[in-house]
Amino acid sequence: MRDRLYWNEGWMFQEKYEEGMPEAGYDVSGMRPVRLPHTCKELPFHYFDEQEYQMLCGYRKVFVAPKEWEGKRVMLTFEGAAHESKVFLNGKLVGEHHCGYTAFTVDLSDGLQYGQENVLAVRLDSRESLNVPPFGFVIDYMTYGGIYRDVYLEIKKEDYLEDVFLRSEVMLKGVPEASLISEVAVSRDAEGLSIRQQIRKKGEGSYQPLPFEQQNGGVQDSSTPVRGKKVRIQTNVGMVALWDTATPNLYEICTQLLKNGNVVDEKVVVFGFRRAEFLRDGFYLNGKKCKIRGLNRHQSYPYVGYAMPKSMQRMDADILKKELGLNAVRTSHYPQSHYFLERCDELGLLVFTELPGWQHIGDDAWKEQAIQNVRDMVKQYRNHTSIILWGVRINESKDDDAFYQKTNEAAHLLDPWRPTGGVRAHKKSSFLEDVYTYNDFVHDGTNKGCEKKADVTPDVTRPYLISEYNGHMYPTKSFDCEEHRLSHALRHANVLDAVAAEEDIAGSFGWCMADYNTHKDFGSGDRICYHGVLDMFRNPKMAANVYASQQEEEPVLAVSSSMDIGEHPGCNRGKTYLFTNADSVRMYKNGHFVNEFHREDSPYRHLAHGPIVIEDYIGDAILKDGEYAPKQAEGIKKILNAAAIYGVNNLPKSAYAEAAKLVALYHMKPDQAVELYNRYIGDWGGPSTSYQFEAVRNGERAESLTKEPMRAWHLEAKVDHFQLREEASYDVAAVRIQAVDEYGNLVPYLSEPILAKTTGAIELIGPKAIPMRGGMAGTYVKTAKKPGPGELALQCGACEIRLEFQVEIANQSE
Ligand code: GAL
Repeated sequence: MRDRLYWNEGWMFQEKYEEGMPEAGYDVSGMRPVRLPHTCKELPFHYFDEQEYQMLCGYRKVFVAPKEWEGKRVMLTFEGAAHESKVFLNGKLVGEHHCGYTAFTVDLSDGLQYGQENVLAVRLDSRESLNVPPFGFVIDYMTYGGIYRDVYLEIKKEDYLEDVFLRSEVMLKGVPEASLISEVAVSRDAEGLSIRQQIRKKGEGSYQPLPFEQQNGGVQDSSTPVRGKKVRIQTNVGMVALWDTATPNLYEICTQLLKNGNVVDEKVVVFGFRRAEFLRDGFYLNGKKCKIRGLNRHQSYPYVGYAMPKSMQRMDADILKKELGLNAVRTSHYPQSHYFLERCDELGLLVFTELPGWQHIGDDAWKEQAIQNVRDMVKQYRNHTSIILWGVRINESKDDDAFYQKTNEAAHLLDPWRPTGGVRAHKKSSFLEDVYTYNDFVHDGTNKGCEKKADVTPDVTRPYLISEYNGHMYPTKSFDCEEHRLSHALRHANVLDAVAAEEDIAGSFGWCMADYNTHKDFGSGDRICYHGVLDMFRNPKMAANVYASQQEEEPVLAVSSSMDIGEHPGCNRGKTYLFTNADSVRMYKNGHFVNEFHREDSPYRHLAHGPIVIEDYIGDAILKDGEYAPKQAEGIKKILNAAAIYGVNNLPKSAYAEAAKLVALYHMKPDQAVELYNRYIGDWGGPSTSYQFEAVRNGERAESLTKEPMRAWHLEAKVDHFQLREEASYDVAAVRIQAVDEYGNLVPYLSEPILAKTTGAIELIGPKAIPMRGGMAGTYVKTAKKPGPGELALQCGACEIRLEFQVEIANQSE
């Protein structure tokens, strides 16, 4: 049979659970069918109350336990149920779990009626009054409710592999070689058990047996005997292709449990060989220094909160790596979906994952639960190659040595391979972890980008990492004015540049990837924290370009301004910034070359691709017009460019000095200034001014864009996948929408409504009428258990787009 039997179908749900319901009479009237992942309450985009998802609710599933299951272990795993679960089988409590962010397994075997119908019921509590992390005080994110990740069944013989934990030691001299250390736990101490392991490059060819060099005894054999319930095997693997951020080579390691020579169970772990080290002066991957450049990610989405399937989890990792060019992510503030982590493994995205919690530490029972959460997190996630650091302090909580000694111990015991960190908001706090991780919010747009390591950590000999910056320091909506959006982008650049300059800071995680729904105490009053470099639908704000332009794979060219002077107070254009990974950018005005701006001229000295500033909007236009002598033309240009940037009432002293020269030497009159300003800067009247930008990389034109007054806009939709497939669960595709002008530039203030309509094999998540926000919008389509074509029509004003999807049902869930 299949390894996992997904149980994401056939559930009935009751929003108002009454105590005693599943245990006793199973009152199914008032229950409705639901599919997992499920949110206990669909919510509006914003302006709603966090009380709405807080409830005691019930899930129920009726199933027949086939006779073949008898005598086997029937184990049911819930990957994520928010926040406290009690599981009943045929009216009897068979398991409970007190964390909404870690998985739990219940053994159904003893309570099953084989060959007959059974009733499984889950009583789920999503009230924030629970005495478990993260609850107890305030929280800057919504915590939602529901069985929001997969549920699956595993049927095992009495002897099975309970756990396989893999880690490697990598020798880096010459061609890299590695050894594999496997810690294998079996279900019981029995005679005749042994372990065999095989390896292959992920998805390639057939498995090769692993040669064994046993720890004790040095016996060369194809299998290692198991004495007791645990065995540790160290294997010399030989030459390996290492896993790193650019080439995330992965292997599949198949561990088999044999009983008297016959395979009774097996587990395949996808694994990458790598050496990851935090040292005094930074982070090293496979012996090479690597500056961590990441963002914090919340696992929430509009309308459905946490309840999104595999494709959406993977998409976020893709966005972080491919669209934002990052090498790392922090799963703030809890362990996230394995689908997300698997994709991080595949993409080479480094992960800092942490226990659930936010600022508050509760009583002893609460702390006990937190320590258990560390154990569960480490045991459940430690085979993810991408994870390089465990967060074992409640995010931004105060010191509590006794408590944090225990969380550190728990992580080290279960994973001696990886270091611990613990995110705090205060300097020089008690340092029990391996890496000092600190939320550095010093930057306010005018001052230094980050603190010095020595000013933050109590021990400079040990590693230091910045776990957050920006965020609440400058909330930014996609529909804010250009200067605000630019300032947001530059703050991200300022911090990144400052961190790049600090040789002994391992790197940084910005706050944060995407806007998120939050509690009443935070955000902009509409239950949204506008802290993302993306909006809630994962559409990019201007700041996203700062990150995207740091990678080398794809050419990036973005201009901070629409070039409309009327957008700016006093019509002062200000400085325009180029976000690009090009060597230089050429600017043309109405087809005439103005200037070429080079990356070496960027004021950001430490980033490979710091934003480049445009401070010249005129070039040699005045000179070429021929009315003025070269020196005079140069002087006029200086003054006009200063006027464009600072405004005529706010000219720097140098501009006045220049003006005085023009009056004295060339007898120019002040009233000439108005005409010159209008001609070269103001862009008023006459034909439209068109600006063209051309990015040059390695001597070649790599990207170009044009900015000129729009005449017509249209919608563009970016869909992550059109071929939807129901496998373990239903599938969802994200539709990210932008209104753009005829040159593909975002029209950032368009706020028209879009009407969305689905036909065929797909359904919409969320409302049918979607407002554009900041010229952008989004929606999600979901499969509806039937195969075939499905269409999403989006209509906005006179513009309509039709998106064709195909749904395939692979039926892996019951
Ligand atoms: C931090 C906190 C985050 C988020 C952020 C906003 O203090 O850890 O969860 O609230 O502030 O900037």
